Amino acid sequence: MFARRVMVVGTGYVGLTTGACLASLGHEVVCADIDAAKVERLRRGVVDIVEPGLAELVAEQTSAGRLTFVVGAGAALGSFEDSRPAEVLFLCVPTPMGAGGVADLRAVESVIEEVGAELAAGTVVVNKSTVPVGTAARTAELLERTDVAVVSNPEFLREGSAVKDFLGPDRIVVGSDNQDAAERVAALYARLGAPTVLTDAASAELMKYAANCFLAMKLSYVNAMAELCERVGADISDVTEGIGYDRRIGQAFLSPGPGWGGSCLPKDTHALLQVADSADFEFRLLRATIDTNTRQRQRIVDKVRLAVTGKRTGSLSRVRLALLGLTFKAGTDDLRDSPALAIAALLRQAGAELVGFDPAFVEGKDGAAPPTEIDGVPLAADAVSAAQGAEAVLVLTEWPMFRTLDWSVIASAVKRPIVIDTRNIVDPATLRRAGLTAVGLGRRGDGDVAE
Ligand code: UGA
Repeated sequence: MFARRVMVVGTGYVGLTTGACLASLGHEVVCADIDAAKVERLRRGVVDIVEPGLAELVAEQTSAGRLTFVVGAGAALGSFEDSRPAEVLFLCVPTPMGAGGVADLRAVESVIEEVGAELAAGTVVVNKSTVPVGTAARTAELLERTDVAVVSNPEFLREGSAVKDFLGPDRIVVGSDNQDAAERVAALYARLGAPTVLTDAASAELMKYAANCFLAMKLSYVNAMAELCERVGADISDVTEGIGYDRRIGQAFLSPGPGWGGSCLPKDTHALLQVADSADFEFRLLRATIDTNTRQRQRIVDKVRLAVTGKRTGSLSRVRLALLGLTFKAGTDDLRDSPALAIAALLRQAGAELVGFDPAFVEGKDGAAPPTEIDGVPLAADAVSAAQGAEAVLVLTEWPMFRTLDWSVIASAVKRPIVIDTRNIVDPATLRRAGLTAVGLGRRGDGDVAE
């Protein structure tokens, strides 16, 4: 006996995680995607995204008969047990950043066009994708159905821990102008026992942006503070530890880095700025958050320049650099808006010769050979090969394996013994023992500020 019949449209990391996790909560779930080859792979249990626990959950729920995959939203409608209608339709389709930072809603519109008229009376349509404020209202207009309610239920999943975040959420947010529909959606998650915020649709939509932009602001603040630490001789890890004990601030999300990236924070900060602009609100704090992040990438390049040439204006022409980590963060193979790649592009513009290594690309996908280059950066098979002959080694992604590399082997491979650790993850004493000069962010004693 299933709890509810749930249709999920879109099997990206949000849709697939939502589908598999809702099935694990006892619901009958049919996931639809327009990519027939992907659906075929999912039916065979092949999950393309690197997401811990997801492939196992998909396999488990598929064999338990609670999770099925079909091509196209139309096909999903007729795929529930005993041909009964879906009760809830989750929209988990992409909402990429369109011109001027506005989210592109064409995928949402096309799903509504395809199945809107076919939905049974009483179905609840749920927007799970991050969408601009007003999208629930717009979806209701497109639907033209007074007997189908629209609900906003933003997700707060992090790539690399999506299953864990879904099944152990900090909160569930459900917004709708139809209270009964909102409660029915909230009830899907009842077994998780998480705090639930029931609100109107616009507040739920804004809440997602408010959360991501706050996180981005926190990180830009930390990166700016790390720069200040360098200038005044303080240490960022002591400063963040100290402020983090204040429960109003918290220890999480306080690590300095090469700038925040990925498919969410950059898109959402720009989109919220756009929302503010259209509401005639000059959101200076958010603009500064974005500008600080853009500047952070240049700041890393400046650090490389100073460390390698000894001068702020020194030339990086023909300087060979090893880049360790290219994904936007550890635990994922996602390269979207990766700070590492943005920094690579700036270094290449400055004339540097780059070789990269990332553990996410050591093996190819689905039997294919691994890539030989990413975004014009040739890939080495391991960190030591990448470091061969390099004038500096940059740690750009916080992969745990970089902490435990045999740095003395790296030291004998490089041409010059410089490590620029943009994540502050490798113990500077270990590097020094290996004969390497450590340059981190905002660290006391790195001594890379003065010319
Ligand atoms: C982010 C949010 O954390 C999720 O809550 C949200 O659901 C998701 O966006 C989304 O909108 O779908 P994600 O993009 O997976 O999740 O990445 P984060 O783990 O938030 O990291 C974002 C960036 O900040 C990365 O580039 C990461 O390296 C950087 N970061 C994170 C730091 O530089 N320092 C930190 O302390 C934490």
